[in-house]
Amino acid sequence: MKAIIVIQSLLYCLVASQNPIPDSFRIPINPGAGNWSAAYAKARQFVCKLSLTEKINFTTSTGAGSTTGYDIGIIPRLGFQGFARTDGPVGVRGTDYNNAFPAGLNVASTWDRGLMYMQGHAIGSEQKAKGFNMGLAPVVSPMGRSPTGGRNFEGYSPDPYLSAAAFSLSVAGMQDAGIIAVGKHFLLYEQERFRYPGNDYGVPHPDNVTMPYSANCDDQTLHELYLLPWYDAIRSGLAGVMCSYNQLNNSQACQNTKLLNDILKGELGFPGLVLSDYGSQYSGVLSALSGLDQATPGDALHYSADPEPGVSYWGSNLTTAVLNGSVPEWRLDDMVTRVMAAYYFLGQDHNYPELNAGGGFQTYGYMYPAAMLDYTQINYHVDVRDHHEQIIRKVGADSIVLLKNVNGTLPLNPRRIRQIGIIGQDAGPSPQGPNGCPDRACDSGTLAMGWGSGTANFPYLVDPLSAIQARALQDRTVVQYVLNDSASDVIAQVAEQASVCLVFANADSGESYVSVAGVYGDRNNLTLWRNGDRLIREVAANCSNTVVIIHATGPVVMEEWIDHANITAVLFAGLPGQESGNSLVDVLYGDVNPSGKLPWTIAKNESDYGTPIIPYPSGPTPQVNFTEGLFIDYRHFDRDEITPRFEFGFGMSYTFFQYSNLVISRISNSSYSAAPVPTKTLNGSTCSSTKLNPSDYTFPATISSVTQWIYPYVAANATISTPGVPTVTDSITAIQPSMPPGGDARLYDILYTVSVDVTNNGTVAGQEVAQLYLDLGNDEPPRQLRGFNKMMFQPGETLTLTFDLKRRDLSIWNVVSQSWVEVTSLGTDIGVYVGSSSRDLRLEGKIPAK
Ligand SMILES: *[C@@H]1O[C@H](CO)[C@@H](O)[C@H](O)[C@H]1NC(C)=O
Ligand SMILES: *[C@@H]1O[C@H](CO)[C@@H](O)[C@H](O)[C@H]1NC(C)=O
Ligand SMILES: *[C@@H]1O[C@H](CO)[C@@H](O)[C@H](O)[C@H]1NC(C)=O
Ligand SMILES: *[C@@H]1O[C@H](CO)[C@@H](O)[C@H](O)[C@H]1NC(C)=O
Ligand SMILES: *[C@@H]1O[C@H](CO)[C@@H](O)[C@H](O)[C@H]1NC(C)=O
Ligand SMILES: *[C@@H]1O[C@H](CO)[C@@H](O)[C@H](O)[C@H]1NC(C)=O
Ligand SMILES: *[C@@H]1O[C@H](CO)[C@@H](O)[C@H](O)[C@H]1NC(C)=O
Ligand SMILES: *[C@@H]1O[C@H](CO)[C@@H](O)[C@H](O)[C@H]1NC(C)=O
Ligand SMILES: *[C@@H]1O[C@H](CO)[C@@H](O)[C@H](O)[C@H]1NC(C)=O
Ligand SMILES: *[C@@H]1O[C@H](CO)[C@@H](O)[C@H](O)[C@H]1NC(C)=O
Ligand SMILES: *[C@@H]1O[C@H](CO)[C@@H](O)[C@H](O)[C@H]1NC(C)=O
Ligand SMILES: *[C@@H]1O[C@H](CO)[C@@H](O)[C@H](O)[C@H]1NC(C)=O
Repeated sequence: MKAIIVIQSLLYCLVASQNPIPDSFRIPINPGAGNWSAAYAKARQFVCKLSLTEKINFTTSTGAGSTTGYDIGIIPRLGFQGFARTDGPVGVRGTDYNNAFPAGLNVASTWDRGLMYMQGHAIGSEQKAKGFNMGLAPVVSPMGRSPTGGRNFEGYSPDPYLSAAAFSLSVAGMQDAGIIAVGKHFLLYEQERFRYPGNDYGVPHPDNVTMPYSANCDDQTLHELYLLPWYDAIRSGLAGVMCSYNQLNNSQACQNTKLLNDILKGELGFPGLVLSDYGSQYSGVLSALSGLDQATPGDALHYSADPEPGVSYWGSNLTTAVLNGSVPEWRLDDMVTRVMAAYYFLGQDHNYPELNAGGGFQTYGYMYPAAMLDYTQINYHVDVRDHHEQIIRKVGADSIVLLKNVNGTLPLNPRRIRQIGIIGQDAGPSPQGPNGCPDRACDSGTLAMGWGSGTANFPYLVDPLSAIQARALQDRTVVQYVLNDSASDVIAQVAEQASVCLVFANADSGESYVSVAGVYGDRNNLTLWRNGDRLIREVAANCSNTVVIIHATGPVVMEEWIDHANITAVLFAGLPGQESGNSLVDVLYGDVNPSGKLPWTIAKNESDYGTPIIPYPSGPTPQVNFTEGLFIDYRHFDRDEITPRFEFGFGMSYTFFQYSNLVISRISNSSYSAAPVPTKTLNGSTCSSTKLNPSDYTFPATISSVTQWIYPYVAANATISTPGVPTVTDSITAIQPSMPPGGDARLYDILYTVSVDVTNNGTVAGQEVAQLYLDLGNDEPPRQLRGFNKMMFQPGETLTLTFDLKRRDLSIWNVVSQSWVEVTSLGTDIGVYVGSSSRDLRLEGKIPAK
């Protein structure tokens, strides 16, 4: 205990010295307007029925190892059983009879709004059917500032417009299914390394890092790049936000009043709850005043290298803080109102399923594992899969990006192919089976999921070898394969005999609490694993018709072989989930015409990206300076005229598309005064007039304390400095934010539409993703994605595709006025470009300055 207190005060000193505690807090109390009004009315009524300790129970989970059941908001007096949460972005984590979906990377690669929504809906309904109230997904940060970022694949794209679409539609899908979506991670969580002080859950780093890294980003970049997806998701109803492990400007994300109070709850009008990541809470009073609403998992896990379970900044400490006046009770009411508003907003008060999936595959276990109490049935093995495998297969196939296809190698023509050679460990099953490595922390067999908390157990995994073989046998094609990457002799032999060689290689990464083969979360480089480049060259040396298939968590450098004359086709398949092989066969044989487009750039050299992760700390608090501003990924390549290997938005089809007839129409000239509306100061009153005596907050005799459990009660003999009615100091003010969810509604007014005609001039049907880019002048990137439209075209068919341009699409963030400003009002003509990728722009036009 003593040691912990010492460390804690040390941390406090560091925080204080680098980023003095703000002397004033303006805490937004959401008015609960618009489609949140019914939920807010019910939540307020509910909160006013609660006692102090009952309220605290909604703010603090019961501890990391305490229970396999509900662990927050348990109120026996009202028969309220509480909340349960589950990861994550590819389905329900750590149980069975669920599906394992494609990664966010693949969702983004489809550029298909319908699929973005459908996958979100399918995941949300599985999480709900297991009885969870909150799904810790989707992921939009990391966005992929650094191509080696270990968790980039969980999110979507370094482009904020594409990310915003995928994120907000995933949120809408999940929440339409009834679960509270918890978008994560807020914010600037762009690297794994140094996210924890000292040891990262046992993964040592040699340097003495005492605080998580600080991501330092200017205000304009924050708004235009990293915050943009949150605007749209909050407007779509996002009910939960998870604050991240890193600091921003040397202030911890979960206690950063500018980020959480001013920006998230103020400017963006976020009405829902903010919960911490597992161990990302670094203070009690400060995090409460700065905007954190719920502590997950309740314990302060980062306290030391050996986390002390059951020790909490909140729980009884928050009760004390309310009693001694450090945290106003109206702020506590606000926390609980936000939690319960989310619950009512999602309609969880009616017919919500009981939690039926405890810990892992086991049927029986301890309900209270840390205390080893109550051995009972914890998993009812409810099959929640429905028919979601169809969505999984479609997202898998529609996300495959065709990067090279010489002389119509693909689709494979069974009549011309007598023998297929399949080469590479990545083509086949893992000897340990698909779930053999905990949290997928190994690279064995075909790669269909990255590692970490963003995982789900596979109900099965269709590997490429079995799917291709099953298909080939229908055509009486001979199939040979070698799954041992180093069996050079037999690889050469199989390659020589085959009419087409399919060679598989991969690159893996994940979350930094586990490491695999010397990769501590973030990738060390953009090279294929297990000498994939050598394997590909070996096959190509012996096979004049070599097709390369890559499974990877992000871009890989392909320079060693991409121009090889014998490499006739290349497919990038990302992390496709359980239907991997089937999705691939759909594309290889042309049942699905490939339509995926890269959600990032594939460079010729890793250094071309210019925004690496910080691999070595610059001091006890590593500083990650986002000095590149808006210029990440293609924006940087475009400005600095660096030729990529494959540009952002690139992806081939088995057919061809022609573009013509660009028309720009003005839809609205609604006026817009950018001046922010002043916020209202509230009196911060609380519904319960607190008149407490110790029996209202001391440990009740009726409860016997469970090991490692976090309670709201204060010890009977505790000294509380100013017990009684909380006093609210002048520096803590309640305000009513002026913005609706998602910010000023006028930002979403459609000012222009752009339409183009697209023709399929080939001989097969296919989908095209037409992309619209703007040049906004004013030192902005030369081209920024501001529209995309995916449609299916029959051969010869012409369709008119339309893009809506919202006010925000034509605006930049002005740091002085703290508002969005249309660039046309600054005298700038906007360049409009439409085409098939960020560098294949077929048509252009102009929106004139005002
Ligand atoms: C708070 O939650 C615990 C379970 O974590 C429960 O035992 C206790 O009764 C709750 N307290 C109140 C005041 O409802
Ligand atoms: C880290 O701390 C240890 C023990 O205090 C010390 O021996 C070591 O030199 C330090 N390493 C660095 C890189 O500063
Ligand atoms: C971080 O610091 C930069 C530079 O001073 C400033 O523009 C930005 O608003 C700050 N952001 C936050 C979240 O504090
Ligand atoms: C809430 O209202 C906004 C603005 O009218 C709308 O765009 C959004 O779809 C609504 N969200 C939900 C979940 O109903
Ligand atoms: C309250 O917080 C202090 C650190 O500020 C910690 O030492 C103590 O263990 C916490 N109390 C509980 C019950 O977790
Ligand atoms: C009130 O209690 C909290 C939690 O134990 C503590 O951190 C804070 O310093 C206390 N404030 C005062 C004024 O005693
Ligand atoms: C592709 O076709 C052209 C023209 O028929 C031929 O010259 C070339 O060798 C072919 N390339 C490959 C890799 O088969
Ligand atoms: C890339 O990183 C791996 C470890 O992940 C290492 O084995 C390999 O040597 C590195 N390759 C290059 C070219 O640096
Ligand atoms: C291409 O493959 C053929 C075998 O089909 C081989 O003879 C030739 O050397 C290969 N070309 C290259 C550049 O490796
Ligand atoms: C980051 O920026 C700060 C402030 O400009 C500077 O002092 C520091 O040296 C920079 N750190 C790195 C690692 O570039
Ligand atoms: C179809 O359009 C593409 C792209 O404009 C062009 O390269 C190709 O020559 C056209 N093909 C035919 C048959 O017109
Ligand atoms: C309060 O009581 C507990 C157990 O009865 C005891 O261990 C602790 O020292 C007491 N604390 C104070 C401040 O008296």
